[in-house]
Amino acid sequence: MDAEFLSLLRDPIAHEPLDHIRDGKREFLSSRSGRRYEIDAGIVRFLDAEELTGNNKRYQRLYDRLAPVYDLSTRIYARVKQGNVDDRIGQYLKELDVKDGQRVIEISVGTGRNLVGLNHKAAYFGVDISFGMMKRCARAMRRSGRRVSLVQAEAELLPLKDGAFDVVFSAGGFNFFNDKSEAVREMLRIAKSGTKLMISDETEKIRAKFDKSPVTKAFYGNQDKIAGPAAFIPDGCRDVEYKEVCDGELYALTFWKP
Ligand SMILES: C[S@@+](CC[C@H](N)C(=O)[O-])C[C@H]1O[C@@H](n2cnc3c(N)ncnc32)[C@H](O)[C@@H]1O
Repeated sequence: MDAEFLSLLRDPIAHEPLDHIRDGKREFLSSRSGRRYEIDAGIVRFLDAEELTGNNKRYQRLYDRLAPVYDLSTRIYARVKQGNVDDRIGQYLKELDVKDGQRVIEISVGTGRNLVGLNHKAAYFGVDISFGMMKRCARAMRRSGRRVSLVQAEAELLPLKDGAFDVVFSAGGFNFFNDKSEAVREMLRIAKSGTKLMISDETEKIRAKFDKSPVTKAFYGNQDKIAGPAAFIPDGCRDVEYKEVCDGELYALTFWKP
């Protein structure tokens, strides 16, 4: 395992640094308190899927099932209903300014379709609850010539060191999170001081469209009403700015860690 990646990881419960160990052919990270986390296909698995609750349980299962068809189906859906998917992605990613050598992390990284278009000289990290989606992410990043380090964990409990990342963002997952305030607190905790953070996701406008089709309603229906995401940003963050992009179907919320 890459030494820099290991140095950024923390036991999610005790926040202690972790040691890399081998047991036969299997690799683990071990905490000083005795917990063990398996490394599978290069992805560190901090999550026990059986312990997930609420939305996080629902969407971990859903995205593991969708993983093999996610990229193709979202591309086709966008082409038919919304226009070019890369143009849409570009409309929120332009809020990020990724410089050479920076550490960039996406929370709810999925198959990595946001990362593959960013500066290829940066170091990429991703967190998601779905192991299936991240296996696809590892493959896509390899093909695009970018380096990525992945952990399976909840946005609400990041197994990562404080103040370690230059660019922190989440696109497409925020509306699903069990505890949005906690997820924002965690994003701020792992960001370096002076970092710009970005959260992007769907507005109610696109939800109304999904509700009209039985297929998309079956996947995405029965969700809570989308709350104004700026309400989750704690006092003390600088320059909180909410804007709608993609004809009002997505929002991009930016804010700075003091
Ligand atoms: C619509 S996909 C978006 C993936 C990718 N960011 C993109 O834009 O294509 C939503 C992702 O959020 C992840 N997710 C949902 N709830 C999560 C949580 N609480 N913590 C981490 N990831 C989560 C899902 O597993 C899924 O991969």
